[in-house]
Amino acid sequence: MRLRSAPLEDWLRDYYFTAEIDISSSGVQSYSMGELRAMTGTGQDEIDALVFDDGYSLGAPAVRSALAELHGGVDPATVMTTCGSGEAISLVMMALLRPGDEVVVVAPGYHLLVEYAVALGCETKAWRLDAERGWQASLDELAELVTGRTRAIIVNFPQNPTGATLSAEEMRAVLATAERVGAYVLWDSAFAALTYEDEPLPDVSACYERGISFGTFSKAFGLPGLRFGWCLAPPEVLEDCMRIKDYTTLHVSPLVELLALGVLRNSGAFLGPRLAQATTNREIVRKWAESNRDLVSLTLPAGGVAAFPELVGLPDTWDFCEALFQRHGVLVVPGGCFDEPAHIRLGFGGAADQLEEGLDRLTSALLAWPGRRG
Ligand SMILES: Cc1ncc(COP(=O)(O)O)c(C=O)c1O
Repeated sequence: MRLRSAPLEDWLRDYYFTAEIDISSSGVQSYSMGELRAMTGTGQDEIDALVFDDGYSLGAPAVRSALAELHGGVDPATVMTTCGSGEAISLVMMALLRPGDEVVVVAPGYHLLVEYAVALGCETKAWRLDAERGWQASLDELAELVTGRTRAIIVNFPQNPTGATLSAEEMRAVLATAERVGAYVLWDSAFAALTYEDEPLPDVSACYERGISFGTFSKAFGLPGLRFGWCLAPPEVLEDCMRIKDYTTLHVSPLVELLALGVLRNSGAFLGPRLAQATTNREIVRKWAESNRDLVSLTLPAGGVAAFPELVGLPDTWDFCEALFQRHGVLVVPGGCFDEPAHIRLGFGGAADQLEEGLDRLTSALLAWPGRRG
């Protein structure tokens, strides 16, 4: 198995740690350990009492139960905890996909959801989202892509990088299309809790026998550095994941699971303030795009905290993004990292004053950019 490099990670590795103003991220503002402890009531004594024994392959029972509870009381046997959702996604793909399998993936999309299937030798078919259509997914196109050979449909709604999502009705149509051919539906629900106009979508694992969902603390919960994620899947799929995990991470750290349990039991305290902040910030982005129509063309994201505007007159934004970072101290992600070179990914999950300052500098830099075709 040979994985191609992930341009998004290469870009962030180079710039993330030294950015003066970071408006690139797909996650909300991170919480500190002090905040986590205060919000969960985890005392220093509890942390000190932890013994660093090995952990459970599929997750500590209490943590699996808390996740099952968070998802409406599903069977804890369908829950696995992992080191970020990235681990869960790769384990499930390794467990389910074989060379030559046909899989449908959304484009543009998060690299792991596509490249892992490619590296496993699958034949990937792109379900394209189009800027011209406001990134709206076409269910007719999906129906045309899916065949009797389709092993899995892999989606992430709300979506990174476009912020597009589906309605509950459209979700049902995706599942009906999959059911017609017996395909799995792998649903990356990283941004499930971050929706603005509609209620969050139901969890796919509760709606479809072959539905598998992935969740994480890295986006809506504001805890990316904790490296905690999970998936909800049929127990026989988790059994296969466990066999693979035996060769890699074995289990999640008991320290991470101790902290995660507190977060899961107080999830509203983490999610609420950050969703409120993101809602305010989305309005800032909307107004900015509206008053700069000659510079940017934006479909307002329906979910998540990433927006994916086109920079008008710049067919390739890469050099501009480099200059924006080097000369103006502002980090965004060039759309080329998602094979959409005329766009940039803007993260609006952080502090409002940083977002406003970052957008101001971005506007000035764009106005002064010599390569822009007016
Ligand atoms: C859509 C999506 N899925 C999964 C991940 C992986 O996140 P983690 O492994 O931190 O849970 C990311 C990270 O950026 C993402 O954007």
